[in-house]
Amino acid sequence: MRKILITGGAGFIGSHLVRHFVNKYPNYNIYNLDCLTYAGNLANLSDIENKSNYKFIKADITSESDVFSLFEIEKFDAVIHLAAESHVDRSIANPMAFIHTNLVGTVNLLNAARKSWGSDLNGKLFYHVSTDEVYGSLNDIGLFTENTSYDPRSPYSASKASSDHFVRAWHHTYGLPVVISNCSNNYGPNQFPEKLIPLFINNILNNKPLPVYGKGENVRDWLFVLDHTVAIDTIFHKGRIGETYNIGGHNEWKNIDLIKLLCSIMDKKTGRNPGTSESLITYIKDRAGHDLRYAIDASKIQNELGWKPSVTFEQGLEITVEWYLNNKEWLESVTSGEYQKYYDNQYIKR
Ligand code: NAD
Ligand code: DAU
Repeated sequence: MRKILITGGAGFIGSHLVRHFVNKYPNYNIYNLDCLTYAGNLANLSDIENKSNYKFIKADITSESDVFSLFEIEKFDAVIHLAAESHVDRSIANPMAFIHTNLVGTVNLLNAARKSWGSDLNGKLFYHVSTDEVYGSLNDIGLFTENTSYDPRSPYSASKASSDHFVRAWHHTYGLPVVISNCSNNYGPNQFPEKLIPLFINNILNNKPLPVYGKGENVRDWLFVLDHTVAIDTIFHKGRIGETYNIGGHNEWKNIDLIKLLCSIMDKKTGRNPGTSESLITYIKDRAGHDLRYAIDASKIQNELGWKPSVTFEQGLEITVEWYLNNKEWLESVTSGEYQKYYDNQYIKR
């Protein structure tokens, strides 16, 4: 039995990854470490919580003593590290939380893995899940490759870029076996409704304005979350130690075009007259330092490891909308209490 620690497994991508590994690899013991911030939700994993190869551990990666004693007791063979503060707008409002979790938390895990593994590195791997935002912002042309220089421009992307640097430093200095992937924007079921797609689905359901930053001309490269989990699985098993792999959907959308597509799907699925959801679009003051365009060159993972996305954007968006329509209780439970305070500060009082 291989013992694999997945951090941040109660969050959006982490929960899909945990389910994928628990179901696909019965000969792996999967440990999900998460401190359950506002973004962590064990309801995301209710279908697998009783599986014999799955264990949840409530712990905070920023606690050195907790992380070290956990590694001492469980003797993990590998780590897939996703736990992070992940929302750009929150990083603009409260950067310290991002530095604390994304930097200090990552270095704690690196140190604990190094101490636990010592010189016995056979079969060991520290896999760090990162973002394309570390590369900065593109103009109309060009793609991010693995060789693009880092140029993070938000507190979130600066904290993720720094964590990537620490992971590489532990590889080069101490010989820790690491791999890093940098992925583009994910979407799909269970995404917290602070990110564009689930926020707008929730607002449409509640007939609330759809707050578009600036002119809606920023471009993102969207990938269905289950395609990301398969990419992580592929890199985990076949990626070369010390390497970086970019993951993306070859699927660039200007925000306003994506929003109009989402509005038309929502009208269709909820039986509203065409144009009803679009009439909620409201242009608001731009996000500070808003990166114009992200776009990934995913040819390395495609050519070397044979991964490519399996779902078109139209298919993925339909699946996503269906999921939110069928899981209104989930949406209601995560948008009560603290969420309203966040929403008011972010959109109403600005
Ligand atoms: P998320 O915000 O949905 O989930 C983050 C999870 O980490 C939550 O379950 C939270 O409780 C947990 N967590 C936060 N701080 C913690 C701490 N101190 N100790 C333990 N657990 C903690 O994030 P996500 O969108 O699923 O992203 C997961 C990872 O993937 C992040 O590292 C993010 O940078 C990266 N990523 C995300 C995207 C995207 O589009 N969402 C794209 C590329 C990379
Ligand atoms: O590129 C990968 C990154 O994608 C991940 O690393 C981050 O964790 C993830 O949050 C995401 O970052 P973005 O800032 O691109 O995602 P977000 O959903 O916040 O915004 C997508 C675009 O939509 C962006 O151009 C800002 C715009 N937007 C977003 C919100 C929340 C709006 O116009 N209005 C909004 O209310």
